[in-house]
Amino acid sequence: MRIIASHTNLDFDGFASMIAAKKLYPQAEIVLASKLSPEVDHFLAIYKDTYSFKRVKNINMNHVRNITLVDTNSLSRTGDLKNELHEEITFTVYDHHPLTEKSVTFEEGVTEQVGATVTLLIEEIQRKEINIKPFEATIFALGIYSDTGAFTYSSTTGRDLQAAAWLLDNGASLAVVEKYREAPLEHDQQSLFETLLDQSTQISIDGVNILVATHEQEKYTGNLAYISRRIMDRSGVDAVFSIVKMGEKVFITSRSSSERINVLPIIKQFSGGGHKKAASAMIKHENVNNIQENVLEQLNEIVTPSLTAEHIMTSPVRVVAPDTTIEVASKMLYRYGHTGFPVIKNDQLIGVISRRDVDKALHHNLGHAPVKGYMSTTPVIITIDTSLEEIREKMIYEHVGRLPVMKDGTLIGIVSRSDVICAMHEKPELHITYSKSSSIPYRKQLIQEMRKQFSPPVYDLLMLIGQEAAHKNMKAYLIGGMVRDLLLERQNEDMDIVIEGDGIELAEKLQSLYGGHVRPHEEFRTATWTHPTGFKIDLTSARTEYYDFPAALPKVEMSNIKEDLYRRDFTINAMGICLHEDQFGELIDYFQGYEDLKQGKLKVLYNLSFVEDPTRILRAIRFESRFQFFMNDQTFSLAKQSANHILSVSKQRLSSELNRLFFEEDSLYGYHRLDELNILPYLLEHIVDESSIYKRLEAFKEMRNKIKNKKIKLSRSLWAGQFFSLTSLSIHALEEIEAFCLTKDDGQVVQKLYSLLEEKPLDNISIDSPYSEWHKHFANVKIEPLVAYFAIEVSMKPEFMSKSVEYIVKRETLEPLLDGKDLIEHGLSPGPHFKEMLEHAERLQMDNSSLSKQSLLEDVLRYQLDTE
Ligand code: CTP
Repeated sequence: MRIIASHTNLDFDGFASMIAAKKLYPQAEIVLASKLSPEVDHFLAIYKDTYSFKRVKNINMNHVRNITLVDTNSLSRTGDLKNELHEEITFTVYDHHPLTEKSVTFEEGVTEQVGATVTLLIEEIQRKEINIKPFEATIFALGIYSDTGAFTYSSTTGRDLQAAAWLLDNGASLAVVEKYREAPLEHDQQSLFETLLDQSTQISIDGVNILVATHEQEKYTGNLAYISRRIMDRSGVDAVFSIVKMGEKVFITSRSSSERINVLPIIKQFSGGGHKKAASAMIKHENVNNIQENVLEQLNEIVTPSLTAEHIMTSPVRVVAPDTTIEVASKMLYRYGHTGFPVIKNDQLIGVISRRDVDKALHHNLGHAPVKGYMSTTPVIITIDTSLEEIREKMIYEHVGRLPVMKDGTLIGIVSRSDVICAMHEKPELHITYSKSSSIPYRKQLIQEMRKQFSPPVYDLLMLIGQEAAHKNMKAYLIGGMVRDLLLERQNEDMDIVIEGDGIELAEKLQSLYGGHVRPHEEFRTATWTHPTGFKIDLTSARTEYYDFPAALPKVEMSNIKEDLYRRDFTINAMGICLHEDQFGELIDYFQGYEDLKQGKLKVLYNLSFVEDPTRILRAIRFESRFQFFMNDQTFSLAKQSANHILSVSKQRLSSELNRLFFEEDSLYGYHRLDELNILPYLLEHIVDESSIYKRLEAFKEMRNKIKNKKIKLSRSLWAGQFFSLTSLSIHALEEIEAFCLTKDDGQVVQKLYSLLEEKPLDNISIDSPYSEWHKHFANVKIEPLVAYFAIEVSMKPEFMSKSVEYIVKRETLEPLLDGKDLIEHGLSPGPHFKEMLEHAERLQMDNSSLSKQSLLEDVLRYQLDTE
């Protein structure tokens, strides 16, 4: 186990460096020092849930093998960590402080004197081409800006500026950097700062606070703009107007940190200038009180109405019952990626259970206990009108991470820290947990397209299912691949139906009315109805998800179509078409799937999607290849981060995805993406070098195309041969690949391929050898291992390509002139020699296609006599 640690009194550079180190070592745990600096503490009050941080006491130090120290190179600065060491621990150090005799001995890392340690880590991240998210870029920028005094300290180097430039290109928010960074004031500035804070009036308008401060002094103090910003930071208000008379002149400076407050119109009235968030004016011979009055009168005009809980909450809310066990709650938290649940009893909110509460209880082995014993019983609640700013304040000052939203005594939504972060950063892609997916889906009528593309029996079946569902007070939706392919105008009649109601009940009803047969899957309340025409239709209950957690769940948790779509792999697969009579053919799209489809984007719906189901990474590559779509940056980096989770998936599940990737899609592209996402080491141990793989897969591609052009079919089991070609082709590689072979055919392909590669029959044949010579070696080899063998050989001897393909075409299209009956008619009695004779006949035919049946027969009979 690796941990990442830094110094006590952790500042932004140390903090940013830890997050950056986690990018380099994703498996490592970040262990926070016992004491944080006030800036970092303030920052974490709102961003706490974004990362998982540990304290030394939560770590079993016996398991630790490496400590990655950042922003310090000495253990004396690490607080309680230094008391927990053992001999087997090695160190990695990233630091910009000079080494001293107290420095640890380390084997890995970089210690160079740049302005901020995080610069060193950013350089490493760039070298390794690791993607970062805008939010991470912002944290890193906070590290650089604070440790270089916004590039004014003499320790600043060009490397810091270059790193910062890269961060800005990667979406770092300077607004956030400005809000959280702190720098010291000079003496007279400090006293003006304190005076202004003392002599200020604070006004609250629709959730934002504006401070107006005045003062008169004879001497001039510079940098009023910076002082105003510091006042804003210190007092926590959203905007400041500082009105200071210095001698004859009155300086009016204003700052705003909120998108909702535009200070410019007021400043302009005093003939000043600037922009929405920072503006200033200077006028002479004016009375400070008059100016203050004037400003106060106009404040209402410069505040735009707030975003409220209604805009940012998640609705409907997943809840738990008081008797739900801690263990079940924990599973649900993991599964849905939530950080807490409201606890509901008889439709009343009675508490909130958070991830921290659950973790604590689990730590004490209390998984069996009901959540009611560990929930907070006096939840801080809000209403739909509570403004974003008020929500943020509540979270910071009441130390709560999620606020239930109530309307007329009923729970209608929840706002979590990530909702607030998302709303503040105005970057929806940062927040893909889709709590902000619109509660009203995008709709589009698709009846015309359905009529055009679906065969009449399929169209009629969909109508019928919708009608029967309606009779049972249920709603049916066509979902998944068939919807996606309808919009892409691609043939697909693989029907997946989701029912808001009971899938089995509906399937049984359909069977009683229209025949066919039903296969129920009780555990998931799902049924497959095989229609008399042979169509197989999967009818799934939208509430399936909850069957993993029986009994304890109250009714409000029953899922609807939105819930069902939400748990799917990509937005383009998370659309439904309503089959209910009244809305038949209406596309239901909550997650911008239609938009993504138009733009060719593959996006997951929630951060843990790949962790929950790592086969989705393979699906993503497959869809990219099939539709020429691309994962967006965030989905790509989530996939990359989740690569190691592939290990937790059974070979069987992996195989059913891999065989599609390597048989149906462009396997060169597939390999390229598997490599980019660093998946291969988690699939195979005996991988060969990249250049050989490219050559082999190119040979496969060319050979398959040529064979396909001759209308010769290859079976799916070829995939196993193609997959084997990624390896060293050793016996160990064979064993590894065999574990992925689900069918007998798959296994036979790789075994035969392996033995051909061992025997090397091509070494005994030349390109000029007659086909009969080739046939002698390969007549009994099935086409799939043969193609695989030829492709691998051709990758080293390209001159063999044409002849190999020609041989395959020749033998696959050969129509034998003789069969066993012909031999019997000529007085021969059947036996093993028949096979040999007929093979001989085939060989002759291959070299001479104009041979008549008669002369062939004569030749074969002569051959028989010769060999006797
Ligand atoms: N699905 C998912 N996660 C998976 C597999 C499937 O969320 N690991 C969901 C997707 O919504 C998908 C639907 O289940 O659309 C049906 O799955 P499947 O039939 O396997 O895939 P299709 O999307 O239909 O793709 P294909 O055309 O390749 O079969």
